[in-house]
Amino acid sequence: MLLIEAKDYNDMSRKAANIISAQVIMKPHAVLGLATGSTPVGAYKQLVEWYNKGDLDFANVTSVNLDEYKGLSPENDQSYRYFMNTNLFNHVNINKESTFVPNGLEPDSEKACAAYNEIIRSVGGIDLQLLGLGNNGHIGFNEPGAAFEKETHCVDLTESTIQANKRFFEKVEDVPTQAYTMGIKNIMQARKVLLIVSGEGKAEILDKVLYGPVTPQVPASILQLHNDLTVVADEAAMSVI
Ligand code: GLP
Repeated sequence: MLLIEAKDYNDMSRKAANIISAQVIMKPHAVLGLATGSTPVGAYKQLVEWYNKGDLDFANVTSVNLDEYKGLSPENDQSYRYFMNTNLFNHVNINKESTFVPNGLEPDSEKACAAYNEIIRSVGGIDLQLLGLGNNGHIGFNEPGAAFEKETHCVDLTESTIQANKRFFEKVEDVPTQAYTMGIKNIMQARKVLLIVSGEGKAEILDKVLYGPVTPQVPASILQLHNDLTVVADEAAMSVI
């Protein structure tokens, strides 16, 4: 594991964007596994800035996102498809047809998840998977207890995740209770993993993730076993380590 300490959120975002850019420059046909949440927003902004300067080309890049709320349409401003469009895809020259997010509108979970696993396989797997960290150690929407061997599946969100994510919705009742998420197996099969973590609120869980026992109770702890893991965390997130 390569652990990079960043000064603050902006520094973490810049360092993460650097790693993503390097991947795209080295392999223009790269498959990027992308993430949502507040943590990657700054990295996406930085990528857009560099793209506008002419330093980056996404024309041949493919992306597969980690997860999507079940039941939300791409036009819903809380859907992860909408998030990706507004934070990154609408601002760079990526071919939208080559950007994939699980289909939140497919009511048949088995169908939605099998189709997504097939997409990941058909694009040749993930070169670089970007990850944020949930307050309870989740990655994607793999909540504590999720079996490590799973591929894309439908999850019931935990109360703690619903509470954490309600800040984006008008009221807590609007937060979907289920989501489609890549499984730990899909994430572990990525050739490189980049975990980004910011803020004091994540400090204790980050310590458990990196140095605690590898256990499904802390889903991200499995990353200790990945052979190409880079963690970029800011000082606040590293305050317990
Ligand atoms: C959501 C997403 C995760 C993300 C997590 C943390 O639950 N499904 O992929 O990592 O939130 O979000 P934030 O970065 O806002 O703390």
